[in-house]
Amino acid sequence: MLSRPFTIVVSGKGGTGKTTLCSLLVRSFIDIGEKPVLAVDADPNANLHEALGVTVSETLGSMREEAFTRRIPPGMNRHDYVRFRFRQALVEAEGFDLVAMGRPEGSGCYCFANDLLSECMTELEREYRFIVIDTEAGMEHISRGTIGKPDMLLIVSDPGARGLRTISRIREIATLLGLEPAKIHIVFNKYKSGTAPVDIGNEIPIAILPDDYSVEAADLAATPVSQVPLNSPARMVVRELAEKIRSLAKEHTGA
Ligand SMILES: Nc1ncnc2c1ncn2[C@@H]1O[C@H](COP(=O)(O)OP(=O)(O)OP(=O)(O)O)[C@@H](O)[C@H]1O
Ligand SMILES: [Mg+2]
Repeated sequence: MLSRPFTIVVSGKGGTGKTTLCSLLVRSFIDIGEKPVLAVDADPNANLHEALGVTVSETLGSMREEAFTRRIPPGMNRHDYVRFRFRQALVEAEGFDLVAMGRPEGSGCYCFANDLLSECMTELEREYRFIVIDTEAGMEHISRGTIGKPDMLLIVSDPGARGLRTISRIREIATLLGLEPAKIHIVFNKYKSGTAPVDIGNEIPIAILPDDYSVEAADLAATPVSQVPLNSPARMVVRELAEKIRSLAKEHTGA
């Protein structure tokens, strides 16, 4: 039993497979008995729920706008009301819950709202064994420091030069912001037979997901990618990755 949740942030260039990896990782943690998992969609263009086959009716962003402008039901203070709405925004599914962050705030002052929301988030996080955070493409989340200091940062890249160059940029910013290099790992995705000749240092990827027809087929059929067959190559690799992360998490947090 982990003494606290182990948080994994997934970042990388656009379209490299962050959401695919997150959903397969959530699925794999459940498959190996590491549940419940909290899936956090930190991409304003939220689609992790689709990859996991659940529906999101409200994001924390839209809830924040409303919970602070609307009249509170009688008998509740704003604090209780936000807590209540926060729980409503949480999607509960078999083995995992999901929360979508939605759009960043507008121009008003949201300090009070954000303080309350992070309080709700901290309370909620205690309930999980693993937290998997999908981010928007690029370096926004990392450079703004909004993801805090995760236990593990996975940087996903396809074999192309632009994806590989993004690895170095993300790694540099994350390290500058104080994340220990040992917590940063590379994942290759859509791998066929090699990568572009771009220097990414001598780190060996923690996982290499092959270009997998079943992943592509799930997208074409508009079915959740997390439900690709158990023996599909990408799913099998991610399961191994989940096992690896479980071992690291035990070392890290003290099993
Ligand atoms: N291993 C794979 N094999 C085949 N296709 C894949 C694989 N991984 C991802 N894809 C496909 O690549 C596309 C992009 O994947 P995904 O949405 O996961 O990327 P992303 O990094 O989250 O994108 P964005 O930056 O837009 O959030 C999708 O069509 C997905 O089906
Ligand atoms: Mg995505």
